[in-house]
Amino acid sequence: MTKTILKYVCQNCGSISHKWLGRCPDCDSWNTFIEEYLTEPSKTPKKQHNKSETFSLDKIISPDNIRYSTKIKEFDRVIGGGIILGSSVLIGGEPGIGKSTLALQIAGAMAKEGLKILYISGEESPHQLKTRAERLNIVSSNIFISSQTDFYDIESETINLNPSLIIIDSIQTISHSNIPAIMGSISQIKQCSTELIKIAKTKNIPILFIGHVTKDGAIAGPRLLEHMVDTVLYFEGDKKQQIRILRSFKNRFGSTNDIAIWEMGPFGLCDVNNISSVFIDKDSLNLPGSSLSVTLEGIRPFIIETQALVTPQKSSFPPRRNFTGVDYNRTAMIIAVLEKKGGLYLGTEDIFINIVGGVKINDPAIDLSLAAAICSSFKNSPLPKDSLFIGELGLSGELRAVNQAEKRINEAEKFGVNKIFMPKSSYDKIKTKFNVRINPVSSINELLSIIF
Ligand code: TYD
Ligand code: MG
Repeated sequence: MTKTILKYVCQNCGSISHKWLGRCPDCDSWNTFIEEYLTEPSKTPKKQHNKSETFSLDKIISPDNIRYSTKIKEFDRVIGGGIILGSSVLIGGEPGIGKSTLALQIAGAMAKEGLKILYISGEESPHQLKTRAERLNIVSSNIFISSQTDFYDIESETINLNPSLIIIDSIQTISHSNIPAIMGSISQIKQCSTELIKIAKTKNIPILFIGHVTKDGAIAGPRLLEHMVDTVLYFEGDKKQQIRILRSFKNRFGSTNDIAIWEMGPFGLCDVNNISSVFIDKDSLNLPGSSLSVTLEGIRPFIIETQALVTPQKSSFPPRRNFTGVDYNRTAMIIAVLEKKGGLYLGTEDIFINIVGGVKINDPAIDLSLAAAICSSFKNSPLPKDSLFIGELGLSGELRAVNQAEKRINEAEKFGVNKIFMPKSSYDKIKTKFNVRINPVSSINELLSIIF
């Protein structure tokens, strides 16, 4: 017989404790333990050995058509060429960012190809979903909507329908009647997703989980789910703006350095024609504190604008450091290099940095652009008109070579910049002839002496 026992479960990472704790010892988050009744495993006799399920690698037959193309170009790219049969994909993001819209668009595109889709909608009623489908111009007899959220109902629907894709919108609304915990709790999410992933694997049906996360990742589930699914995709960006970015954080079947970019319009998510134009604020270009760079996300280069505001600190100490869209520690390092090697005294300045468009950049090649924007705001003097900065900054103030320099220059040239400042080491390796003026520099000091 199984027995239920009261335990405390961290709603961030799933860590279990027999007493309440203020801080989780596993993930360090505060106030995340809540009471849950967990089922103790029954002490059944050891499983008998069945026939061997071990095969030598060369005897395993690789399946044909292992990926379904969703026909949504950006989504296919970020997922590595299409959804792998039998795989599980998590699409996370804050409420209202566009998860359900994307899921319905995927359903619509696949249904057009004659594939059957089972859409479990625990958040919206079938009528609300129909209204959304009409807005997206999706009409299909191949999409089956169900608002049943019990695991066993989903299982029997899957057996009846034998769909080509299951969409669970959202995993926080699914419950398992064997688990006494409330819907959306870690135990429910863990049990439901484990069993749903098992169905996906045995029946070779891909499954797409939608999961809500707030900005601080406070809502239960997705963090735990990240370990269980094959692919993790998160929406980033600001939902008040039109641009939506879907980034791959984990992909067992593809690379994780690509992003999908869409614009949320009146008819759902649509492709952006000129990506380099969407991360630019035309009004602030050529003003003090604004600088341009080219970043490479996956194989695609695009122009980004950094805005910096450096202002004498008035009331608070230590001075404020507020960075959006860039890595905090890396930016702090750039500020330290500017102080030590560039001779700028920034210790008593509040510094605010923002990457236009809500995109998060991890590419070290934008270091030089960040440094240039900070100096420009500090000196209250604009950077040379229509200039662009590429380069990684070292701790001694030296400029390091960047990868795929020619691709970046090409994009900058297409965008119409006047002049590119870049590391001399990268410049020396360039083989192509470009029309744009290129100014090779070796250190941050050299750059500062040229532009100010
Ligand atoms: P939604 O997909 O419901 O977000 P999530 O499932 O992540 O909570 O997106 C809701 C937002 O998208 C809402 O603010 C309205 C907007 N939207 C459009 O702008 N155009 C559209 O065609 C659709 C369907 C939604
Ligand atoms: Mg939704």
